[in-house]
Amino acid sequence: MQVIHAVDALRQRLKAEHSIAFVPTMGNLHAGHLHLVELAKQHGQCVVVSIFVNPLQFGANEDLTSYPRTLQADCEKLQAAGVNVVFAPSEAEMYPQPQTVTVNPPPVANELCGALRPGHFAGVATVVLKLFNMVQPQVAVFGKKDFQQLAVIRQMTGQLDLPVDIIAGETMRENDGLAMSSRNGYLSAAERLEAPRLYRALTLAAEAVEQGEDNFAAVESQTTQYLTQLGWIVDYISIRASNTLARATTENHELVILGAARLGRTRLIDNIEFKRP
Ligand code: PAJ
Repeated sequence: MQVIHAVDALRQRLKAEHSIAFVPTMGNLHAGHLHLVELAKQHGQCVVVSIFVNPLQFGANEDLTSYPRTLQADCEKLQAAGVNVVFAPSEAEMYPQPQTVTVNPPPVANELCGALRPGHFAGVATVVLKLFNMVQPQVAVFGKKDFQQLAVIRQMTGQLDLPVDIIAGETMRENDGLAMSSRNGYLSAAERLEAPRLYRALTLAAEAVEQGEDNFAAVESQTTQYLTQLGWIVDYISIRASNTLARATTENHELVILGAARLGRTRLIDNIEFKRP
């Protein structure tokens, strides 16, 4: 496995590769990321993983400086997983000039997390487009954990005719249901015990709809109230059509319930896809 920090060296290393599967990450890798690596191995001969904590996608009051940076441990995991190339650029390498050219993401980026994190998905789309141009993969793998991010990337890739197939990986969870996340490390012991409640609350809500409840707004507000009573600060609980992320109507059968909520200073997101008869 080669660890490369410079774009020129990356291009040199990859220029003879014709089957590249790419997994972009911000590092602090866990089994969710490694699941995406396994998918990448099935879709390409050369697996490239990037590790870059992208300042462009963090808001002014967010956790850019405290975001865990664990490059050496990450590389050990990726080596064991059979990755061919790790691309870990510095900020100066990624943004040698102020990034005044940016991707204006599709309208779906303005809702849910995008409504609470203005500019977040523009930052994600911009860095992903840059990484696609640097790595030039045939396939790129993203996790459903970040369901809205996946939708933004799919629309960007489609509408800008990028020659990259987007593959989605399922959300990997701890034994108690908590979706794996680099941000779980911020939780105190007590918060960590409470954290799986978000997944359980989303599961209960999805089950109610599966069993015929079609007042989606009522399900959303009951779920919000339930979590709020337990000390969570709920950013949103929302039932959407899984292919468009438009608000669900009784015409939709393939649904996703998405939630974002804070425990203390830690913001957790999760979602569950489900069907409605
Ligand atoms: P990061 O949060 O490091 O996530 C990298 C990839 O891992 C994303 O596609 C994310 O959806 C996926 N992932 C995270 N937790 C997961 C889990 N529990 N199960 C399965 N997949 C999971 O998402 C980003 O970085 C950045 O926004 C990035 C796309 C790299 C752009 O900077």
